[in-house]
Amino acid sequence: MKRIGVFTSGGDSPGMNACIRAVVRTAIYHNVEVYGIKRGYDGMINGSIQVMNSHSVSNIIQKGGTILKSARSMEFMTVEGRKKAYQQLRNFDIEGLVAIGGNGTFTGAKIFLEEFGIPTIGCPGTIDNDLYGTDYTIGYDTAVNTALEAIDKIRDTADSHNRVFFIEVMGRDSGYIAIQSGIGGGAEMIMVPETDTTIDDVINTLEKGRLRNKSSAIIVVAEGDEEGNATEIAAKVKGRLSDLDIKVTTLGHIQRGGAPTSRDRILASRTGVAAVEGLLKGIKNVMSGIINDEVVYTPFEDTITKNKPINDDLIRMVNILSI
Ligand code: F6P
Repeated sequence: MKRIGVFTSGGDSPGMNACIRAVVRTAIYHNVEVYGIKRGYDGMINGSIQVMNSHSVSNIIQKGGTILKSARSMEFMTVEGRKKAYQQLRNFDIEGLVAIGGNGTFTGAKIFLEEFGIPTIGCPGTIDNDLYGTDYTIGYDTAVNTALEAIDKIRDTADSHNRVFFIEVMGRDSGYIAIQSGIGGGAEMIMVPETDTTIDDVINTLEKGRLRNKSSAIIVVAEGDEEGNATEIAAKVKGRLSDLDIKVTTLGHIQRGGAPTSRDRILASRTGVAAVEGLLKGIKNVMSGIINDEVVYTPFEDTITKNKPINDDLIRMVNILSI
């Protein structure tokens, strides 16, 4: 393999730049040319592809976002779109790909590989940490720390005013950010899509807190909770406990930006190196992840279809620690 392409796709995550840097430098180290594809699959379709050298990735390891830009491509979901993308890769003589992204990115990569045979390895780039085949995903640690910092600040004002705050964190289908930031932030309750926490449960927790003279409460809600988002849940609770002073804060996209933590930079660097070296060994159709501090290649099929359940012990702990 003499020439590979690298791209970022789907929601960006802090550490994607560190991963791009690792891919580019590892390729050059092994005498492989590397091309950057802009805006994910859209750029592949449009031929927005340019050669990268060692300097192209200087001074980016500490930066959030992605220098290659990102997108969720509708056109790549069509056979015509994928045909165009394949033709563009042929025009540039690109023989292998490193795809940095999440489930949607790998679903596209798998279909593309099966149709057109371009060997591809993925790196787990998503703040959601919802990918099977790696203990953590690139950007998750940074996002959790961003959420935690916000929760700490909200706790100060919640306490001053005796208020109940519902804090919404990201995670459409996954409660990882909520669980991690909620435990770290000492939340009274954490609502995630993986568990059935009802409005009755929220009311019980708040009432028990009152009996114990708790003056304020923090409830962390993953945006994809089955009871609704934080605004919806807060309205339902207010309907039943009208005397409470309830506020809602939605953290939103702040969780996707900022300088990556050391953990995310190292995870990004390791999985980026592993992706290129995997391609050179003839490995393909897999994601490079880290499990128990070792590089592991997991078939796209598994990363896409298998769940990575949240450790039950963490969920159990929330109830113990919030009394
Ligand atoms: O997958 C990452 C993520 O940040 C989710 O947590 C969130 O639901 C989604 O992306 C938001 O996507 P967008 O930026 O396209 O609104």
